[in-house]
Amino acid sequence: MELLATKNSAHGLKVLLAAKLTGNEINIISNAEADRRLRDAILKVTSKQGIVCEVSSNSATLYLYSISSKSSLCRDPEVAEWLEWEAATLQPVLLPYLQSVASGREDKTLQTHLAECLTFLSSYLEGKTYLCKQFGPADVVVFSSLITLLAQDKSKSFLTTGHSKVFSYLNNLMNIAEVKECIRSWYGANIVLTPWISGVSAPPSSAFDTASLMKSLPTSSVKAEEGSSKEAVTTPEEIEAARTSWTKGAPTIKQKKTTPVLPVPGERNILITSALPYVNNVPHLGNIIGSVLSADCFARFCRMEGCNTVYICGTDEYGTATETKALAEGLTPQEICNKYHAIHADIYKWFNIKFDYFGRTTTEEQTQITQDIFCKLEKNNKICRDSVDQLYCANCDRFLADRFVEGICPHPGCRYEDARGDQCDKCGKLINATDLREPRCKICNKKPEIKTSKHLFLDLPKIENKLKDWISKTSGSWSSNAGVICNTWIRDGLKPRCITRDLKWGTPVPLEGYKDKVFYVWFDAPIGYVSMTAKYTKDWERWWKNPDEVEYYEFMAKDNVPFHSVVFPSCQLGTEENWTMVKHLMATGNDNVYK
Ligand code: 2FM
Ligand code: ZN
Repeated sequence: MELLATKNSAHGLKVLLAAKLTGNEINIISNAEADRRLRDAILKVTSKQGIVCEVSSNSATLYLYSISSKSSLCRDPEVAEWLEWEAATLQPVLLPYLQSVASGREDKTLQTHLAECLTFLSSYLEGKTYLCKQFGPADVVVFSSLITLLAQDKSKSFLTTGHSKVFSYLNNLMNIAEVKECIRSWYGANIVLTPWISGVSAPPSSAFDTASLMKSLPTSSVKAEEGSSKEAVTTPEEIEAARTSWTKGAPTIKQKKTTPVLPVPGERNILITSALPYVNNVPHLGNIIGSVLSADCFARFCRMEGCNTVYICGTDEYGTATETKALAEGLTPQEICNKYHAIHADIYKWFNIKFDYFGRTTTEEQTQITQDIFCKLEKNNKICRDSVDQLYCANCDRFLADRFVEGICPHPGCRYEDARGDQCDKCGKLINATDLREPRCKICNKKPEIKTSKHLFLDLPKIENKLKDWISKTSGSWSSNAGVICNTWIRDGLKPRCITRDLKWGTPVPLEGYKDKVFYVWFDAPIGYVSMTAKYTKDWERWWKNPDEVEYYEFMAKDNVPFHSVVFPSCQLGTEENWTMVKHLMATGNDNVYK
């Protein structure tokens, strides 16, 4: 492993220290080169297959621990929190503050912000020796940053007088042999370590000369090159804003919000959801990359920016996906939901996804809000009725969803014997379950009959004009694939859409004559976002009935776009209530990229 780091930088020290403490060997390859554009230390790791991976200092610190006998120290969830705090809250203030001191013009605003960071740290360290249970990656990172404060007389006195708890924490770590050795090797052989602070030579002010560092970036590199995509252009104002924020620190230190987070009038209030996974599988990387991870990154960014942010997700527990899984595992649908909800929650926790609330759709709140929306649609004449032919198994006394019936493929030339009710696995063609030849109930193997059943439909044509109007005003800020998919749906005119099913597992329909039915899972799935928020806070309407003060971002895979861009917004519009509707609909494609 090779380390590329600017001499005397705190980032380089983190990696050296982590390597020392974990018994990993690294070569410093570019210490003296001090690449002026290098703002972080980079560890180059070459795998057995020869693949080179470059990781920046905080991740490198974690990595070095994770491959050592001390890997258990990485698993404490607080480690990630501290690494993020160091990178996102402390560094943006500390570095420019040191620079201001080195240049002889101590910046008092930065000093105030830094004092707030140190006060927060002091109160946390009360009664503790280390940030987590044992000396580990969190201490390495925070310590390496903060000792730069002790390298200058001025900032040192600031630390010793006002924040003695932090000072004694640093001194304590300094007495660890490996730490002493690394400090000496990184900052120079002549450092007197007792009392060590008087001996540490100040990092050269050039190490903190971020203004000239910014200047050294050729402006042309941030302009789009001729012929390249427009999106690459960064405006001079943005560069200036970045320069100011880099040299002067972010305008305010972001405070920890109290829970539940609620919108505040006059501030930026961001509501974020990612598509609710079904409970018929164990989540894999595809689920996570598809929507959860991007929403999580965005939520973290919004919180760092000081916006009032809630990120809501949870499991989508109704529908045939659950019933099929229950059948396969010999459990009841409720047992399946309980089992897989816990698995999903655990996996996201393992990935350190920071939801504000991770809920489920099988709740009282879900029933109540779904039924309420339906009743308003019915009252506003946005629900119509029709009859549908379906397969019914007299032996099981149930209508059979497409997934619960098999038979001979009706397509001439195929006639595959085990075709499913929705599609033939042999010829690949779509099938109407009622067209299957010699249909069999998948549960009891008996022959189902065709029976007519009355159903309720969302009368989309009656909402169409309002919907199109809303889409034309909003879809400019959606990912472009979402716009394309949505337009394909509405281009040829909308038809009424069936929102009820003859199933037992679902939200009950509260209308006389339909009380033995449940809502179609896709009618109530997006309502899950609302009901989960209602579980999170009794003031959920401040998020959901507040379009003037809340910006709503939805993250999903592209096959979920029609229900989020047409069906759910139509329900919201059809209630004639003042709903918060999606402003930024972000859809990932198969390549997991927002386009
Ligand atoms: O496709 C799916 O996995 C669905 N469960 C997504 C639902 S998203 C939202 F509407 F709840
Ligand atoms: Zn049957």
